[in-house]
Amino acid sequence: MRITVLSGSPKGDMSVTLQSVQYLGKTLPDHSFDVYHIGQTIAKLAKNADAWDDVIAAVRTSDAILWAFPLYVFLVPSQYKRFIELVSERGAQGAFEGKYAAALTTSINFFDHTAHNYIHGVCEDLGMRFVDSFSAGMNDLTDAGRRDQLRWFGADFVEAVETQTATARRFPPFEPSTLEYAPGGPGKRFTAAGKRVLVVVDSLPEEGNLARMIQRFRQSFEYEPELVSLENVDIKGGCLGCIRCGLNNECQYSGKDGFIDFYNEKIREADILVIAGTIRDRYLSWEWKRFFDRSFFNTHTPTMVGKQLAFIVSGPLNQVDNLRQILIGMTEWQEANLAGMVSDECADSETLDGLLEGLAKRLTMCADRGVVRPRTFLGVGGAKIFRDEIWGHLRFAFQADHKYYSSHGFYDFPQKDLKTRLVNLAMITLTKIPAFREEFFKRIRSEMIKPHLRILDQMDAQGEAEDRHAD
Ligand SMILES: Cc1cc2nc3c(=O)[nH]c(=O)nc-3n(C[C@H](O)[C@H](O)[C@H](O)COP(=O)(O)O)c2cc1C
Repeated sequence: MRITVLSGSPKGDMSVTLQSVQYLGKTLPDHSFDVYHIGQTIAKLAKNADAWDDVIAAVRTSDAILWAFPLYVFLVPSQYKRFIELVSERGAQGAFEGKYAAALTTSINFFDHTAHNYIHGVCEDLGMRFVDSFSAGMNDLTDAGRRDQLRWFGADFVEAVETQTATARRFPPFEPSTLEYAPGGPGKRFTAAGKRVLVVVDSLPEEGNLARMIQRFRQSFEYEPELVSLENVDIKGGCLGCIRCGLNNECQYSGKDGFIDFYNEKIREADILVIAGTIRDRYLSWEWKRFFDRSFFNTHTPTMVGKQLAFIVSGPLNQVDNLRQILIGMTEWQEANLAGMVSDECADSETLDGLLEGLAKRLTMCADRGVVRPRTFLGVGGAKIFRDEIWGHLRFAFQADHKYYSSHGFYDFPQKDLKTRLVNLAMITLTKIPAFREEFFKRIRSEMIKPHLRILDQMDAQGEAEDRHAD
């Protein structure tokens, strides 16, 4: 069987992920694994018709496709994303249709599931038969047990193709939205007193819903916020995964293009940041993806702490829950506040006017009050993964993160908390005594709310004091 491997890493042969593909090749010697370095050669694929045709011909004539890529910022690398967009733009979907597919990634398991959901959905949109995906940790190949799992994944995939196993669709196709947005007359205007408001769009179309949404939104402020289009930022290329940034946040592109200055001068300086774009396949555009990947020069250190974030999206955002999850996870990990997301999936223009105006109001209110809502599982879980990795085996490669994490109290492992350790020790010992255990069961609920009641009592006491003062 001929399996075409679409390799996503910009590192080409030096890709960690590719070593797992080579391993699969060795465990399945009766099948060929033909590797195409999509991530590394994307510029050529975009420009050179012969190079493009070679890849598409390989896809067309193969029995199955293996999407093999590293996790980059919640998804696939921007170079790979661009390839996926080109497949549709160039009408090459037919080469993929009906083919069996599987995905193999390596990562530190930070939002690996969103990348897997994405590629799964993309395959289904291409009419492929998606069998399975495998999320290997970066160093899993060095572990015998994990290698066994990988081997079985490969064997399962091959077997599914050979026996033409049925596959079920998991991500339904989009229902098209029909609204042609026609903004109404001027609405309310809000003041972002002393706050810098920045709207960034990947590319600004002259016409269409996105342009009109941005315009209407900006008109909801007393002073129209600055608008920057990524088209006008000098970005020479996507992240190359070299991790030079790990030591001191210096990027391979430092001094070679304008991205880092743009990020430091505009993005970091904004109090309110609004990200605007159009859904392409099951994410925003590859240009937005490149922006997020290139932001990795800050490695695992948050750079949007306390900012108000919002997203204005044209396209079926409500039907791509995976993308919502990415945007929420990203905001929470950044310790920013997600003030809202507005898309043009509305019944009428009046509703959309109201949503955009409401977003402006909410952004200014949240910025004024310094709102940063507590993180959910997405933010808390993600931060713990980074904390453990930077504390552990990624520390030498990401020394800048370690410095930041040390000085900002990120290493909040419970094992350092002496009080908790002593309480645990005492309680575990005492609960072995039957009489204590009975008392423990009786009192656990009231003890749990005791500290909360103290706060409420304090409020009552303060309220009475204030009332007396007023009298
Ligand atoms: C720019 C960049 C972004 C990354 N983003 C993620 C991520 O979101 N989640 C994750 O678990 N790992 C992330 N990683 C780690 C890589 O996925 C991991 O190192 C992978 O094994 C690299 O594979 P490769 O050598 O095949 O490129 C990122 C690495 C880089 C360089």
